[in-house]
Amino acid sequence: MALIRLLCLFNGKTVWSKTLARTGCRNVCSSPSRLQSMSAWVIDQYGSSGVLRHTEEIAIPSINFANEVLIKVSAASLNPLDVNMRGGYGATLLNLRRDPLSVMSSFSEFPLILGRDLSGVVVDCGSEVTHFAPGDEVWAAVPPWKQGSLAEYVTLTEYEVSYKPKSLSHIEAASIPYVANTALSALVNAGGLCRENSLNKRVLITGASGGVGTFSIQLLKTWGAHVTVTCSQNAEGLVRGLGADEVVDYTAGDVAEQLEIMEKFDVILDNVGGDTEEWAMGLLKPWSGAKYVTLVSPLLLNTDSMGLLDGTLRAGLTLHNKAFQNITSAGVFYRWAFYAPDGPTLDEVSQLVDAGKILPVVEAQFPFTQVPQAFQKLEQGHARGKTVVKVAEDDEVINAAESEQDVHETLQQH
Ligand SMILES: NC(=O)c1ccc[n+]([C@@H]2O[C@H](COP(=O)([O-])OP(=O)(O)OC[C@H]3O[C@@H](n4cnc5c(N)ncnc54)[C@H](OP(=O)(O)O)[C@@H]3O)[C@@H](O)[C@H]2O)c1
Repeated sequence: MALIRLLCLFNGKTVWSKTLARTGCRNVCSSPSRLQSMSAWVIDQYGSSGVLRHTEEIAIPSINFANEVLIKVSAASLNPLDVNMRGGYGATLLNLRRDPLSVMSSFSEFPLILGRDLSGVVVDCGSEVTHFAPGDEVWAAVPPWKQGSLAEYVTLTEYEVSYKPKSLSHIEAASIPYVANTALSALVNAGGLCRENSLNKRVLITGASGGVGTFSIQLLKTWGAHVTVTCSQNAEGLVRGLGADEVVDYTAGDVAEQLEIMEKFDVILDNVGGDTEEWAMGLLKPWSGAKYVTLVSPLLLNTDSMGLLDGTLRAGLTLHNKAFQNITSAGVFYRWAFYAPDGPTLDEVSQLVDAGKILPVVEAQFPFTQVPQAFQKLEQGHARGKTVVKVAEDDEVINAAESEQDVHETLQQH
């Protein structure tokens, strides 16, 4: 508990002394000033903590498409997906996304860089980038099929990137993008909720004390929903502090029994999985459009174990059967939800953060030299918010962006 820190929004400091004019990006796709290699944590094979390797010799990603930006990473954060991907989870589907025509050899994804969140500074832009310029402070969730943020530099499309909230430090900002994109995908796309229709809706969040849960509670409260959560007893203070209306301690007896005596719910966001759906479906209001949305689906496990075609078919069949059974027997919707890259959505989250409506919840932070220890922390479970890695000192990030800007100005003068 001592480690838990609810970070105040108002302690963020503006690190930029120089505001760069946003007059469109430059027409260059690489910068002569930059060194060719960077520092990163990579894996060369799937496995447990021993496979993480620090290197100074990984090539700096280049801008290959006109809509891409190159970002100098200041801070990254870890998600359960990073631990799972380190062990090979999702490799079948993710490799298809990385190499749709299968022209590369097996294991071409290595060396693979993990890390799904970043906060940092734009240092270079493709010729068609319109929203960002070098020097802009940004945050983003890195799609799992792309090289991750446990590295000095990351390349993303401008659609995947958003302006970082001004009120947050990079460490604080790095705790939010991946869980925000995931929670919004689940609550909006699968759960049918939004700012306009959530007032007094009854929402249950299981596993509410982790990354997705702590963000979702706050978002739903800004939308006026009534939020009930399940978590361990020692997380009650945290979730109530974030706005949860009712808290059920799942370690104190049968959680389903405790929830059954409450009024039924409009939406359930399940962050736990397992047998949760067996008792959760009965907690929804019947025949009123109520939805159960789980973030724990067997899709990637199926494709890993059965291959792409069989695995996808099996997952599709499972989803179809459960959805059909629940809508016909109880009049409730059964849905799976997934993270989806979405910079414009992060823009909206950024505004909520700067308005003081959403707080970053950073449980632990590690220096870049201690990425294996950060993974160990995550593997112990019992998250209370997010684990963040400080990738670079603020002055390193400022210097990198300013030297890029100097090159840019020199190029423009000639
Ligand atoms: N489908 C997708 O695209 C997607 C995207 C993001 C996340 N996810 C999945 O969604 C889940 C949540 O993600 P996250 O980032 O929030 O994970 P997390 O940060 O590890 O949080 C999980 C939380 O659940 C609590 N918990 C564990 N068992 C519980 C139970 N039976 N009842 C209530 N609470 C329980 C844990 O604390 P205690 O153990 O101390 O209670 C922890 O606080 C993970 O399984 C993750 O893999 C899926």
